[in-house]
Amino acid sequence: MLRAGRFIGLLVWTLAAGLALAYRDVELVPGRRYQAHEVGPVHELVRKYMRYSTAASSFVELDKGWASCGLACNSPDVRDVMLNLTWHVDAPLSDGLIGIHKRDKEIVVAWAGTHRYRALITDVSVFTMPYAANEGSVHGGFLDSVRGVVGVVEQHLRRLMADYPDYMVVFTGHSKGGAEAALGALDLARRVDGLRQRMRVWTFGEPRLGDTQFASVYNKVLGPVTYRVTSAADPVVAMPPRFLLDYCHHNLEIWLSSADGNMYVARNYTKCDEDPLASSSVDFYDRSIIWHKNYLGLPPPDHADAEFSW
Ligand SMILES: *[C@@H]1O[C@H](CO)[C@@H](O)[C@H](O)[C@H]1NC(C)=O
Ligand SMILES: *[C@@H]1O[C@H](CO)[C@@H](O)[C@H](O)[C@H]1NC(C)=O
Repeated sequence: MLRAGRFIGLLVWTLAAGLALAYRDVELVPGRRYQAHEVGPVHELVRKYMRYSTAASSFVELDKGWASCGLACNSPDVRDVMLNLTWHVDAPLSDGLIGIHKRDKEIVVAWAGTHRYRALITDVSVFTMPYAANEGSVHGGFLDSVRGVVGVVEQHLRRLMADYPDYMVVFTGHSKGGAEAALGALDLARRVDGLRQRMRVWTFGEPRLGDTQFASVYNKVLGPVTYRVTSAADPVVAMPPRFLLDYCHHNLEIWLSSADGNMYVARNYTKCDEDPLASSSVDFYDRSIIWHKNYLGLPPPDHADAEFSW
């Protein structure tokens, strides 16, 4: 019998051999619950990519480097990234960064969230725009933001991919940044030859991005390399609501069902990825924004230091 599993590639330090790198896989089976202690390596990846996402949401200036974004950028995971591009665009609003992490052999593309995340919950005036002919519709604001910067991101990415041919490319972001990371990843996977074979998408607290038709397009192209992480009772992942314009999620949801990191890997739907046993199992009125700010304890409480009020 074919086992529907998914492997998460993980780079692990092997100190004994100096700087040798070992590759280890963690298998995640859709529809399975995991105790926190079974998935330590997955937690490490969640924390690492969550830190990149947090850093992207602080104002990082390329010429001043990590010093420009204070405590939010203070973790070694982040400091080890060599910045290659930062972008700050006002209209449509988008911020983010590209860097390379030599030890982990990763090219990082991180999209910033918004300090106006409350608007993601309360603003039901969200409109959709066609993504492409026969490919469904997506949230117009996210699409505008991504399309405004995807060209410059592509230029830098192509150069980096050529210079670091054995590096993985990781797209990541929290909140609005998660939605933009997923959309940007889809655009770029189709524009840049060879990218799809070496990429991962890790999003955190991502709001719904588009309709059912769009979700099935996304799943076909990027489903197998995407981890859509949701946290306990995060309300943002339940917005915009299903009944509005047929909004539904792409796969694959990894639900952190408790603060200490018990996990449920959602079943693998090819169209609308809304497993009723994952984060959708939480009643809307039991949700709290506290969980949007708590992905295994990140972003840290001192994050407010960085011009980014949670
Ligand atoms: C989910 O299903 C699709 C289509 O059947 C498949 O390509 C993909 O590998 C599956 N993912 C997992 C995690 O099983
Ligand atoms: C970005 O990466 C490209 C490709 O490696 C390189 O040519 C360029 O100098 C880098 N820019 C910065 C600011 O590091």
